[in-house]
Amino acid sequence: MGVAYTAMCLAMRYGYPIDKAEVAGLLHDSAKRYPEAKIIEKCAKHGIGLTKEELLSPAVIHAKYGVRIARDKFGVTDPEILDAIRYHTTGRRGMGLAEKILYVADAIEPTRGRSRELESMRRMAFVNLDEAIAMALKDTLEYLTKSGYPIHPDTKDAFAAYSIFLDGKQPVCGQAYGQVEEQGKETKWKKRNSSSGWRAKHWKTKKQRTSV
Ligand SMILES: [Fe+2]
Repeated sequence: MGVAYTAMCLAMRYGYPIDKAEVAGLLHDSAKRYPEAKIIEKCAKHGIGLTKEELLSPAVIHAKYGVRIARDKFGVTDPEILDAIRYHTTGRRGMGLAEKILYVADAIEPTRGRSRELESMRRMAFVNLDEAIAMALKDTLEYLTKSGYPIHPDTKDAFAAYSIFLDGKQPVCGQAYGQVEEQGKETKWKKRNSSSGWRAKHWKTKKQRTSV
């Protein structure tokens, strides 16, 4: 329930349909009740392809099978909800708003307790969703690397895309994420509180920012 409530709060903040965020939050872990071996077996039975990397890191597979449960057992057909469930463990480049909301909600929900950056992430989630994603991805990569677990290619790819939002990048106008998206004109970004680095020298257009 914690993920669903958190996703609903983020949906309010970023102007996403609250009921859709709730469904994604309620169903995202519906495959987790099965042991990993059982999920692999079920994926094979239902023709759900698993990559070599996924077989090496079975913890991420419940997201893939969760899509089937959401669709076939709960009748969910909305592609935004299904994609949010599909990528809630790995993230990916170019996530839609539902995917971002669920990914971050899962990382900061009230019973979450592993990350040193958790409090910062929780605050950032309601300030800049992309930066919160980057923080969560960074934290996941550090944890997986330290623990010797394999890293899913989607997670690597997502970090390559979203890491540009780390270190306090904010909309110059200081508006909320949703408002910036709605303006329909070029939005310039710059690094805050920095005197060096390529980010300080390069402006990002809205097109560039939304293409990750
Ligand atoms: Fe999960």
